[in-house]
Amino acid sequence: MAANRCAGGRVAARYRTIPSDGEDPLKGLILSGGLGTRLRPITHTSAKQLVPIANKPILFYGLEAMVAAGVTDIGLIVGETEEEIRAAVGDGGRWKAKVTYIRQAAPLGLAHAVKIAEPFIGRENFVMYLGDNLVRDGITSFVRRFEQSKPDSMILLAHVPQPELFGVAELLDGQVVRLEEKPEQPKSDLVLVGVYLFTPMIFDAVKAITPSERGELEITDAIQWLLDHDANVEPHVIDGWWKDTGRLEDMLEANRFVLDTMEASCAGRVDESSKLVGKVIVEAGAEICNSTIRGPAIIGERSQIVNSYIGPFTSIYHGCEIRNSELEHSIVLENSKILDVSTKIEDSLIGKEVVIRRTEELPKALRFMLGDRSEVQLT
Ligand code: G1P
Repeated sequence: MAANRCAGGRVAARYRTIPSDGEDPLKGLILSGGLGTRLRPITHTSAKQLVPIANKPILFYGLEAMVAAGVTDIGLIVGETEEEIRAAVGDGGRWKAKVTYIRQAAPLGLAHAVKIAEPFIGRENFVMYLGDNLVRDGITSFVRRFEQSKPDSMILLAHVPQPELFGVAELLDGQVVRLEEKPEQPKSDLVLVGVYLFTPMIFDAVKAITPSERGELEITDAIQWLLDHDANVEPHVIDGWWKDTGRLEDMLEANRFVLDTMEASCAGRVDESSKLVGKVIVEAGAEICNSTIRGPAIIGERSQIVNSYIGPFTSIYHGCEIRNSELEHSIVLENSKILDVSTKIEDSLIGKEVVIRRTEELPKALRFMLGDRSEVQLT
């Protein structure tokens, strides 16, 4: 629920402090703090934003989308996983961007992240991107539209089948009338995509709202505050594909979509008894022996696939070993081994340095060493 709702006071002009001449490029803010609780146990040890989708960390898609839109002065909100994110992103030079790290002491919400970013943003307009989101068509057209029409804020919306999992927007005659964070009874199927364009007016909003029931300062409430103060919040319904990768099924779906857009290529070694069918990407140093890979699929650097079948929509990251096994519609992170598993593995997200193997040891039994909140399904 939106806090501090004020009955449509005509005070927006008072808050309109932005010079916004549209000439300076926008600043960028990427949020990479959150705990990723819906992806445990993977997120017990690493940042969810660094899980690779088609062998590229999710976060990099956001960085690339920003840079493609001409946004290169980027603040990156980080939390407990700061070190890992710093190691992966560095100073942003790889993308010809300048990345400034902003530490969020605790995951107190998206609006809290905006609040602590004020010294970095200053009085500029900015685009905010949630680091676990993927937007197929990037953000360039929204950024251009924002620069041209100069609203106080622009929000991206998408139709989804389960709106109750997101911030939900109610529109009337193409205007946003109300926003609600994860309502039990959504008023529409239009939800907030994790990309927002703001003027510094948002800083007044994030300071005015109070925490939601889940104890977070919600960006949805902050934008509702803008609406309540007569701000011009321009909605834009996107038609391209978009995904918030907060849950396993979303990760797998994102992986599916991205793999499908890639072109086949081979920088590794494929022996004569192996078959690559459809769009298969074999990265440098990977070896495929006596195996069938049915694309779309990607095999990461230095990975070995021996006597195995890798089915569609599978991403095997770097340094993995798959022997005498079958795998489909799954993501495997670096340096993991799947050895002699005769039952096909599918719909799975397998972490780093995991070993799954069949042994001849007696008694015949399943033996596990699983991290907290692991999930195993046996059939
Ligand atoms: C957040 C926002 C929500 C938005 C979603 C988009 O949800 O609170 O309004 O629709 O991102 O990804 P969260 O992922 O924090 O649950």
